[in-house]
Amino acid sequence: MTNRLTGYQNAAPKVTLEYADGRQLLLDVYTNEIIRVFMNRGRATNSYAIEGDKHHKTSYTVEDKGDHIELRTPSLIVKAYDNCKVDFYDGDGNPLVMDYRGQRQPLPNDLDEEHQSTVLAEGHDINLLDKTNDHYYEVIKSMSPDEQFYGLGDKPGFLNKRGYDYDNWNVDFGQVHNESVKGIYKSIPVMYGLKNGHPYGLFFDNTYKSHFDLGKESENYYYYSATDGNVDYYVLGGHSLKDVVANYTYLTGVTPLPQKWVLGYQQSRWGYSTSDDRVAKIADGFEKYHLPIDVIHLDIDYMRGYRDFTWDTTKFKNPKQFVAEMRKRGIRLMPILDAGVKQDKDGYDIYQEGIEKGYFVENPDGTVFVGRVWPGDAVFPDFGRPEVRNWWAKHVKFFADMGACGVWNDMDEPASFDGELPTDLIFHDGEQKTTHTRMHNVFGHLQAQAAYEGMKAATGKRPYIITRAAYAGTQKYSTIWTGDNQSIWSHLQLAIPQLNSLGMSGFAIAGTDIGGFQKDTTPELLTRWLEASLFVPLFRNHAEMGTRYQEPWSFDRQTLDTYRDYLNLRYRFVPFLYDQLRHETESGLPVMRPLVLNYDQDPAVRQINDEYMVGTSILVAPIVNQGADKRLVYLPAGKWLDFWNNAEYSGQQTIMVNAPLEKLPLFIKKDTILPWGNKVKHISDEPEKVMTFRLFGDCGAYKHYQDNGLDFKYQEGEYNEYYVEVANDGQVAVKLNKHGYQPTYERVYVETDRGRFEFDYDDSNEDYRLVK
Ligand code: NOJ
Repeated sequence: MTNRLTGYQNAAPKVTLEYADGRQLLLDVYTNEIIRVFMNRGRATNSYAIEGDKHHKTSYTVEDKGDHIELRTPSLIVKAYDNCKVDFYDGDGNPLVMDYRGQRQPLPNDLDEEHQSTVLAEGHDINLLDKTNDHYYEVIKSMSPDEQFYGLGDKPGFLNKRGYDYDNWNVDFGQVHNESVKGIYKSIPVMYGLKNGHPYGLFFDNTYKSHFDLGKESENYYYYSATDGNVDYYVLGGHSLKDVVANYTYLTGVTPLPQKWVLGYQQSRWGYSTSDDRVAKIADGFEKYHLPIDVIHLDIDYMRGYRDFTWDTTKFKNPKQFVAEMRKRGIRLMPILDAGVKQDKDGYDIYQEGIEKGYFVENPDGTVFVGRVWPGDAVFPDFGRPEVRNWWAKHVKFFADMGACGVWNDMDEPASFDGELPTDLIFHDGEQKTTHTRMHNVFGHLQAQAAYEGMKAATGKRPYIITRAAYAGTQKYSTIWTGDNQSIWSHLQLAIPQLNSLGMSGFAIAGTDIGGFQKDTTPELLTRWLEASLFVPLFRNHAEMGTRYQEPWSFDRQTLDTYRDYLNLRYRFVPFLYDQLRHETESGLPVMRPLVLNYDQDPAVRQINDEYMVGTSILVAPIVNQGADKRLVYLPAGKWLDFWNNAEYSGQQTIMVNAPLEKLPLFIKKDTILPWGNKVKHISDEPEKVMTFRLFGDCGAYKHYQDNGLDFKYQEGEYNEYYVEVANDGQVAVKLNKHGYQPTYERVYVETDRGRFEFDYDDSNEDYRLVK
């Protein structure tokens, strides 16, 4: 039976569509390019992804067109019909997101209940039939033959997600992460599409367990379904995929500028923190082998019996002094912090305080829920309550007081060794009681927020937080890593599309465990993984206890020498990466990008899984196959220079490049200027005196950003911008746009094929003067 669209109310910026059965569908015009579609199904309406009011003043029109109601902004057209069907077009009338008019045709599933246990008994996963309940709903959209899908956070598999289905439910997933896995640690329900080449985005802001089927079930439609929650999604428009991604980060927030040293090299292993001596020996290794490094991570063993906010003084005689000594050696220490708090009734303050104040998640009968993690029986903070977050944030000061450089949040899906926490546990959503089903996917998000606020209050610096679990918007508080990968080639292959997808999903600072976490790495795999990660913002080698050592010196001479070369090269690019992050905070676009983000109109780049770009001027084509010493590289439009020998190639062609083990295929867009960092062992807190810029090609222009790399003073204007230009006629110029950061560089070099130009800072006119 038809559910007629009977009329609408227009109370700018909201248009309410009214239907014969009493239903209402809200079209909320956030900006010309962002429209929210909302149907209240009696669930909480607060968002954990979007903070503050993101409406812009827009001038849209609404008109009754007889068979439909039409809403128009300059960039989006919405046509609303009977049966709550809505179709979105871009400003030129190209279809973007169209409600599917037919019924879903679920794939046949011959696994009856009787056989489920038999299949499970042999240890196989099973595809359970869709379990529906009263609150379950689906949003089904038409799919074109030429339609590709991107985004979705950390979902394993390929860059283009068409043909696969995924779950949004944070899981501690220890097995191999490949394209058959429906979800791992994070739930970032944003997807992007190119429909016949026209870009759009869809962000489903619902924390309950949900599912995407992106053309697996049918060639005619894709769908989103949720087990609960309101219908609440945003249609994102824009002229290019870049615009669409920028609209998503406008809504959910950008990754803030980190402290500069966060971009340095980081070494980790579960096992280092069993003693201060062992950590010191790792630092010795870096000195002995002349390897640059900025951070060593401390996994769970530094704690006293795995109790959060403790430091075992039998393993670290004087932890604070040790951290300070390491700092003097140029190395910062990053301790892990787990979500589960040890149930210890014997004077453990965190547990006692939390119990007294009722801060832990409860069973439906009001008793505290007890799970099992590293410390044995453990309880879980109810982070949905602001008071609990404040309490946690105050304790985070412990790390600041010890001199630690940040907080690494782990097991925050939340994970428990006895299996998933029951869905009916009592959590809080603000001051309202709710269940685990609503808060599960934001547990890690809220723990990260508490850590961020705690570190910021305690240090005044830009907090360095890493989290394993996340929801949409977590990027405002934390960097991420992709969890427990393995030392296998398929996990190196996965790293590129996974980090590219995370970048498009707002996470500009992300990384994988270089070398692989589980299982034994090989010298070749480690070398290729490091090369592939040259521009990956979070640059950390991490391994599991009991696996083969994977410090750079653990293998042969060639592995060590190549490792050193790439660490040194990384530090040369740190000023560029920092500039890129500054740009990301302004544009909302990631540092590490799939080619399709920069060239969405080039069909040849829509499925590329083994190349990535850094900003718009660098193209990286790592070797990700065992034994390979050459590979095909697709170069998009423009002219490209081989970084190693300056050979010039035209774009829109595939070339074959040689890549012996010590070579990462790397291309710079012709006529690009890049900052070229000084050769350093660590990123210093002291201002740099000299900066070099390198020209690739004949001419170019570059804007370089400078601040103190540590705190928030840049937000009050304490930063500088440098404009470096090499004109067609060969003229070289360096101009300073001084905003108030002191000191400026004493000297700037510009290196071109025609020589090295030297500029000195001239105090009298506060600018640079060519000296030679
Ligand atoms: C799981 C984390 O993913 C891993 O990185 C860590 O080493 C172990 N927990 C031990 O804390």
